[in-house]
Amino acid sequence: MILVLVGPPGAGKGTQAKLLCARFGIPQISTGDMLREAKRSGTLEKRYLDIMDSGGLLPDEAVIGLIARRTVEPDCSNGFLLDGFPRTVPQADALDELLASQGGTWIDAVIQLDVARPLLEERLIHRRTDKRSGQIYHLVYNPPPPGAELEHRADDRPEAVAKRLDAYEAMTAALLPFYEQKKLLHRVDGVGKPEDVTHRVLSAIGRPGSGGE
Ligand code: AP5
Repeated sequence: MILVLVGPPGAGKGTQAKLLCARFGIPQISTGDMLREAKRSGTLEKRYLDIMDSGGLLPDEAVIGLIARRTVEPDCSNGFLLDGFPRTVPQADALDELLASQGGTWIDAVIQLDVARPLLEERLIHRRTDKRSGQIYHLVYNPPPPGAELEHRADDRPEAVAKRLDAYEAMTAALLPFYEQKKLLHRVDGVGKPEDVTHRVLSAIGRPGSGGE
């Protein structure tokens, strides 16, 4: 099964990705997480680091290469969930070519999480992530346990948040008609308890009560 999660920053892609991957037993492939890991290990080029921290989108070729290398790893043989990729039509075209070259696999569903902008800003500014486990928290709705080693993302500062939301509206908006035309797009309300959102996603993709692939 190949799933794609799209939606603006803060829509809950990372949160839903973890819940859906646990259900279907497939790996989560998040370009944002891969880039942050490269940043931590000091292997991310300085020009990309600056773009990321300020809330801009990296050039398509930088992320397409990451996906091409990751999707041929053995744990992807039964499928995977893409979180934050593709974000542009050229990235979506590259993904189609990649899947065709990998033996003709295909995307099962593209899920768009809908959340209104004021709520997105509120979610991002209060987000904290556990450095060790990668678990995502919200200081108000889902507070971290005592002792968690918390990280506040550089791009969750208010000015970077505004830029990321604008970049989503400007660039990613073209992606939705692309998948709508292919009849792959499922729009899901991303507001409510994370588990309720997961149920909505499963119903939307025709897998209610799904326990595995
Ligand atoms: P990336 O890491 O992909 O960031 P993003 O798309 O901006 O999305 P976020 O991770 O901010 O939000 P999310 O939707 O995952 O929400 P989350 O579950 O954490 O990308 C970062 C950067 O990398 C980009 O800006 C760009 O520079 C670069 N990049 C990555 N991919 C790229 C690509 N393909 N092309 C070019 N550049 C690329 O939730 C957010 C908060 O809300 C949390 O606090 C969470 O606890 C809370 N929350 C979640 N669900 C709920 C709920 N149902 N109710 C209440 N609170 C909730």
